[in-house]
Amino acid sequence: MHRNSLVQLAFGLTSAALVSATNDPNFIPSLNFRPDNVTSNRLYDWVGSYYNGTTSISVKPFSGVSKQEIGSAESNFCPNLEGKEVKAHYDSILALTERSSQNAGNNSVNVFYTLWDEGFDFSTLKSNATIADYPWSYGLFSSDPAIAHNETNIPELFNLTVRKTEEAPYDLSGLLGDSYYNGSDFAGKKTIIYNMTTCNGTKDIPWDGVMLTKKLWSEYDSNVTYPNPSFDVQFDDETANLTLSGYIMSYPSCGKKATFCEADVLIYAEIEITFSGTIDIYHSDELETDGSTPKWERTVGFGNGTQISNGSSRREHYGVLSLLASAFALSVTSLYI
Ligand SMILES: *[C@@H]1O[C@H](CO)[C@@H](O)[C@H](O)[C@H]1NC(C)=O
Ligand SMILES: *[C@@H]1O[C@H](CO)[C@@H](O)[C@H](O)[C@H]1NC(C)=O
Ligand SMILES: *[C@@H]1O[C@H](CO)[C@@H](O)[C@H](O)[C@H]1NC(C)=O
Ligand SMILES: *[C@@H]1O[C@H](CO)[C@@H](O)[C@H](O)[C@H]1NC(C)=O
Ligand SMILES: *[C@@H]1O[C@H](CO)[C@@H](O)[C@H](O)[C@H]1NC(C)=O
Ligand SMILES: *[C@@H]1O[C@H](CO)[C@@H](O)[C@H](O)[C@H]1NC(C)=O
Ligand SMILES: *[C@@H]1O[C@H](CO)[C@@H](O)[C@H](O)[C@H]1NC(C)=O
Ligand SMILES: *[C@@H]1O[C@H](CO)[C@@H](O)[C@H](O)[C@H]1NC(C)=O
Ligand SMILES: *[C@@H]1O[C@H](CO)[C@@H](O)[C@H](O)[C@H]1NC(C)=O
Ligand SMILES: *[C@@H]1O[C@H](CO)[C@@H](O)[C@H](O)[C@H]1NC(C)=O
Ligand SMILES: *[C@@H]1O[C@H](CO)[C@@H](O)[C@H](O)[C@H]1NC(C)=O
Ligand SMILES: *[C@@H]1O[C@H](CO)[C@@H](O)[C@H](O)[C@H]1NC(C)=O
Repeated sequence: MHRNSLVQLAFGLTSAALVSATNDPNFIPSLNFRPDNVTSNRLYDWVGSYYNGTTSISVKPFSGVSKQEIGSAESNFCPNLEGKEVKAHYDSILALTERSSQNAGNNSVNVFYTLWDEGFDFSTLKSNATIADYPWSYGLFSSDPAIAHNETNIPELFNLTVRKTEEAPYDLSGLLGDSYYNGSDFAGKKTIIYNMTTCNGTKDIPWDGVMLTKKLWSEYDSNVTYPNPSFDVQFDDETANLTLSGYIMSYPSCGKKATFCEADVLIYAEIEITFSGTIDIYHSDELETDGSTPKWERTVGFGNGTQISNGSSRREHYGVLSLLASAFALSVTSLYI
C-alpha cells in the first residue's frame, strides 16, 4: 500500500546522513509550497506527484476540419505539407500538484506539464529563475504556477472534472475553452515547437504551433468552428498517462522565448499529444490512493522525505512572473498583414 514511502524512507535515511537540514522559518503549511529546506530547481516547488516520461506528438497539416480553410482569404497553405503526418518526441515532466488557497477556482489538482528537447540537461536549470523562464518547448498549465507567497486569486485556465471513483487511478479531464488564452500571463499562450519541412519542402525547420479554441478562432472571422482542445490524464502513485487533442495554427518558429511573431506562412493542423510517465519518487510527495479525490501526504522536506536542505532560502527573492511581451490579438492580426 505504502510502497513509495518505504522507498522514500530508504532514500531519506541515506540523504539524511549526508546533509544537515534546518527548518524553514517562512514555511506556511496552508500553502502548497514545499519548505525552503527542499533544494531543487523551480520545477518542483509544490506539494504533489511528478512524473518523468516521454511525449509523442502527431501533427497533421490540413487534415480534418482545417481542410475547409483551404482557399479562404486568411489561409496561406502549403501543398507540400498537405496530408503529411509529422511526429516528434520530447522529454517531459508532468506535475500534478496540490490545490492551494491561492487558487481561485475549483480544480482539485493543478496540472503543470512541460515538454523539453530530448536529452535536455535539467542540471542546467537555475534555481534563481522561475518556471516561466525555463526553456521548455511547450507547457500546459491548468493555472499559472504560484511563485510567491503573496499571490492570491490565481485563476483557473481550464476546469478539470474528476471522474467519480473510490480509489486510484484518478482521472481528470477538461476542455481548454474560452478562458484558456485570457487568464494567463504566459502559460496558455506558449506555443508548441516542433520540426517540419518548409512550405516548399526544401529543409527541416522549427515551427510554432498555437492551440486553437472555439472562441479564439471565431474572433478571427473564420467560418470554420474548431472544437476546444480536450485534455485527459489518468494517474496513480506509479504512472500517469495523458492525452491532449485539438487543432493548431502553425508558422515557422520565431524562437523559444517568443510568443508570436510575424510570418508569411500560416497553416492549420490537427494535433495529438500523448504522454506516458512514471513517478519520480525523489521529487514526489506520497499520493494517497484510497480516496475519492487525489490527496498527498507531505513527505518531501519532512525528514522521511527524500530531499533536505543546505539551509539556503530562496523563495523571498522571486518577483512577479516575467511577462511575455506581445498581446495575443495584436500578434495574430499581424500574421495577416
Ligand atoms: C513521516 O514522518 C512523520 C513524522 O515522523 C510521520 O507522521 C509520517 O507518518 C511519516 N510519513 C511516512 C510516509 O512515513
Ligand atoms: C524543513 O522545514 C519544515 C518547515 O519548517 C520542517 O517542518 C521540516 O522538519 C524541515 N525538514 C528537515 C529535514 O529539517
Ligand atoms: C468557408 O469559406 C470558404 C471561402 O469562402 C468556403 O470555400 C468554404 O466552403 C467555407 N466553409 C464553411 C464550413 O462554410
Ligand atoms: C466553483 O463551484 C461552484 C459550485 O459548483 C460554482 O458555483 C462556481 O461557479 C465555481 N467557481 C469557479 C471559478 O469555477
Ligand atoms: C542567477 O544566478 C546566476 C549565477 O549562478 C547568474 O549568472 C544569473 O545572473 C542569475 N540570474 C538572475 C535572474 O538573478
Ligand atoms: C509580493 O511581494 C513582492 C516583494 O516581495 C512584491 O514585489 C510584489 O508586488 C508582491 N505582489 C503582490 C501581488 O502583492
Ligand atoms: C469553470 O466553471 C465555472 C462554472 O462552474 C465557470 O464559471 C468558469 O468560467 C469556468 N472556468 C473556465 C476556465 O472555463
Ligand atoms: C477575455 O478578457 C477580456 C478583457 O480582459 C474580456 O473582455 C473578455 O470577455 C474575456 N473573454 C473570455 C472568453 O473570458
Ligand atoms: C528539432 O531539431 C533540432 C535540431 O536538429 C533538435 O535539436 C530538436 O531536438 C528537434 N526538436 C524536436 C521536437 O524533435
Ligand atoms: C523555400 O522556402 C524557404 C523559406 O521560406 C526559402 O528560404 C527558400 O528560398 C525556398 N526555396 C525554394 C527553392 O523556393
Ligand atoms: C498508463 O499506461 C500504461 C501502459 O498502457 C499502463 O500500464 C498503466 O497502468 C497506465 N496508468 C494509469 C494510471 O492508468
Ligand atoms: C526525473 O527527471 C528529473 C529531471 O531530469 C531527474 O532529476 C530525476 O532524477 C528523474 N527521476 C527519476 C526517478 O528518474
